[in-house]
Amino acid sequence: MNPEEIIDRILVDERTLQERVTELARTISADYRGRDLVLVCVLKGGVTFLTDLMREINVPHEVEFMAISSYGAGRRESSGAVRLIMDLKNDIAGRDVLLVEDIVDSGQTMDYLLRLFQARQPASLRVCTLLSKPSRRTVDVPLDYVGFDIPDEFVLGYGLDFDEKYRNLPYVAVLKDQYFGGIPDDD
Ligand code: IMP
Ligand code: MG
Repeated sequence: MNPEEIIDRILVDERTLQERVTELARTISADYRGRDLVLVCVLKGGVTFLTDLMREINVPHEVEFMAISSYGAGRRESSGAVRLIMDLKNDIAGRDVLLVEDIVDSGQTMDYLLRLFQARQPASLRVCTLLSKPSRRTVDVPLDYVGFDIPDEFVLGYGLDFDEKYRNLPYVAVLKDQYFGGIPDDD
């Protein structure tokens, strides 16, 4: 289906997104000057944000990827039962790690990631998330850089998927309530 058909409204438009990403990159660059920065991107949702963010960060850094999957209580929420699908290629011990995520919802996924990474003894460990839904939090996680606090609504675009699709949209949009259960088959 065309994005226009399933979208209720655009929550963060392309220009606003890009401006905020540039601001975040500026702050991160200032904070990590002279440090040993490693950006850790959580696949798949974080990849769009990461690639824009890293191009605006003007201090030397490395990029690492990891993939996780969370088993949900329903299709639109994670239960906190997180599984590691693909681990980092390189050791992060003694390095300044910045986790880059698309969204922190209940906080369960980030809580898992922070525990996992802390155990590997980085020099520092911080979190940068494009979106946060504070009203949905069930576990308190420290967020160091947040693009936008958003209301409790299901969003898609700019890396975030709706049943694995629509990650390519250049904006963040709210899904129409009627599609929350998924898109029905045509036949
Ligand atoms: P949490 O563990 O509840 O914080 O959920 C985090 C994960 O749930 C994110 O990394 C997303 O994959 C997914 N998620 C949460 N809210 C949304 C949303 O509004 N749209 C798309 N994915 C979401
Ligand atoms: Mg995600």
